[in-house]
Amino acid sequence: MAPFPDEVDVFTGPHWRMKQLVGLYCEKLSKTNFSNNKDFRSFLQSLCATFTEFKMHEQIENEYIICLLQQRSNTVYNVHSDNKLSEMLSLFQRGLRNIKNECEQLNYAQQLKERLEDFTQDFLPHMKEEEEVRAQCNALATLPLGVTAPFQCLDMIEDVCALVFQPMLMEYFTYEELKDIKKTVMAQHCRQ
Ligand code: FEO
Repeated sequence: MAPFPDEVDVFTGPHWRMKQLVGLYCEKLSKTNFSNNKDFRSFLQSLCATFTEFKMHEQIENEYIICLLQQRSNTVYNVHSDNKLSEMLSLFQRGLRNIKNECEQLNYAQQLKERLEDFTQDFLPHMKEEEEVRAQCNALATLPLGVTAPFQCLDMIEDVCALVFQPMLMEYFTYEELKDIKKTVMAQHCRQ
């Protein structure tokens, strides 16, 4: 069960779709015959579409959640600043453009599997952290909102920021404002 009422929970709904996409590419990864050029290209094309959707999700969060929070609190960092999605899209596009034969496909496939596994290992916890707040709120209760400043490690900064997004929204916006934010976030995702 979501820790906040559905009408103001801006993360769980869009993340359902993102997790569905993760499940689909994991399934395709396990089933794709990387020796076959048609299968190889079809998988890369589907990855391009999927990661373009991830990028749109990230842009919507930046524009309609993070930016709004930054207007009300100067302690909010951009959690999406490391640009992994762009790097992954470049990897897929390079595969589509440059790989010419079966041997290259198989070599590329190994790199692709590793990069996708790394990405998935980061992306799923990232979403979970944006959504889950109750236990983390307790852990963060003793920390001031500017808690991110002393951390030098970008990963730690990102994790802590993600942890506090939904609670910060609850703190800095009225319930009616949050309902409007949720409507906008959902409408933007539906436009894709
Ligand atoms: Fe909702 Fe930042 O992924």
